[in-house]
Order: sequence, then C-alpha cells, then structure tokens
Amino acid sequence: MSQVLPLIKVTEIPTDGSAEVVANGRIFAVYRIEGIFYVLDGICPHAGGPLGKGTLNGKIVTCPWHGWQFDVATGHHCLNSRICQATYRTHIINDEVCIEIPA
Ligand code: FES
Repeated sequence: MSQVLPLIKVTEIPTDGSAEVVANGRIFAVYRIEGIFYVLDGICPHAGGPLGKGTLNGKIVTCPWHGWQFDVATGHHCLNSRICQATYRTHIINDEVCIEIPA
C-alpha cells in the first residue's frame, strides 16, 4: 500500500535542473531531465549534503559538498555499487510532481 505525496509544481523546476523540496517531514531532491522527472532522497549518504542542490550532468548529480555522484534514475553511486540512494516513482498530477511513498 502506498500514498501519493505532492512535492512541487512542474513549473518550479527549471528545464534540466533540480530543486530541493521538504515534504512530509523529509527532504527530497527533484530533477527534471529532458522532460522526465526523477526524485531521490535529498540527503547525501556521505555526510548529509543537499543532493537537490547538486550539479547535473545528464542523469548524474554531483553532491555539492564533497563530490559523490549518483545516477538520479537508479540512485546508484557512480563508483561504489554498494551505495544506492532511495528513489521514488513519480507521477504528474494537476501540474505537480508527486511521488509514491509507503503508507
Ligand atoms: S555530503 Fe555528499 S559527498 Fe559528502
């Protein structure tokens, strides 16, 4: 069972850009790449850096604090396959990026 959580208006995310969103007491990183939206847990597992404020190169985000890199589509760390950031299934509902979270 899951619930749908609205995060942010589509228009608030720049093309091929990102946003950091606080919702439901958590921080999410939202990315818009070639018209597709991706959402990661927004807290970097290294030391808590803001992945929603990272630099994008294609689907790779670089954490602004120490440079760890993740594929925003899969959550996989680019160098260490044992590290995987949580990802969320996204939906666009009423022009908002929404995710599915466990109920
Ligand atoms: S906090 Fe993200 S790389 Fe260190």
